[in-house]
Amino acid sequence: MHRQDFEIRALDAPLGAEVLGLDLAQPLSAQDFARIHRAHLDHHVLVFRDQRITPAQQVAFSRRFGPLQIHVLHQFALAGHPEVLIVSNIVENGQPIGLGDAGHFWHSDLSYKEKPSLGSFLHAQELPAEGGDTLFANMHLAWDTLPAGLRDAVEDLRAEHTYLARYAELQARSPWRPNLSAEQIAQVKPVVHPVVRTHPETGRKALFVSEHFTTRIVGVPEDESRALLDALFAHSVLDAHVYRHAWREHDLVFWDNRSLMHLAAGTPDHLRRKLYRTTIEGDAPV
Ligand code: SIN
Repeated sequence: MHRQDFEIRALDAPLGAEVLGLDLAQPLSAQDFARIHRAHLDHHVLVFRDQRITPAQQVAFSRRFGPLQIHVLHQFALAGHPEVLIVSNIVENGQPIGLGDAGHFWHSDLSYKEKPSLGSFLHAQELPAEGGDTLFANMHLAWDTLPAGLRDAVEDLRAEHTYLARYAELQARSPWRPNLSAEQIAQVKPVVHPVVRTHPETGRKALFVSEHFTTRIVGVPEDESRALLDALFAHSVLDAHVYRHAWREHDLVFWDNRSLMHLAAGTPDHLRRKLYRTTIEGDAPV
């Protein structure tokens, strides 16, 4: 299989790189795949420009990094592709076609599972003329720059993550959150993970708590847990740690959920936005 001639260019930001001149609709050689894999570990977000790939091709490329996870809101899976979650604010015939408020709070995908996500792909299908950006926070930098007192206080602690933590709050403000069935609730039992995790491939430490899914630090009084989490959240999303992605047509963005949190900045209600997400299963954090 021939190698493609493409460039990986670091962004002028605390994380991220653009991949230019690569066509993911073509078969990818083992050498090209290895180069992308390495760049993903180094930059944490890869922006593949101008990708004209089908959902099946997105699924196949995503699978090269590991097994895919099916989102608990299976109502918003793309027809014929249970691994593809539709992220969209579009309502057709009175029904939302996708999850419109995905990413409303900072989070790492599926941190509420025993095995949270390794990384996620988001492929732009329809973009608004304004708004719709996605922000990424570098949780390695957040850990590396954490004040010493706070580092010492949290280094060996564990925290609970729950999909349902803010579900009712989201349900109250948007049309995109269906009532969950008993079977869906059973899929998202609370889990406990270390507050600071070690990346399984690079060995770098990263903060692993989020305002969306982390409810409490285990084994400390509630007021202390709240104060620690608030301090960690505030530090994590300082401008110095964040890259803001302004989407371009046919962008495919691939981020590392072990290294980052992300946030959807929001889209004006009258504008349409649709993207397809695939989510790769990772390891239990240590
Ligand atoms: C997500 O959190 O997966 C969605 C992010 C976005 O829509 O920008």
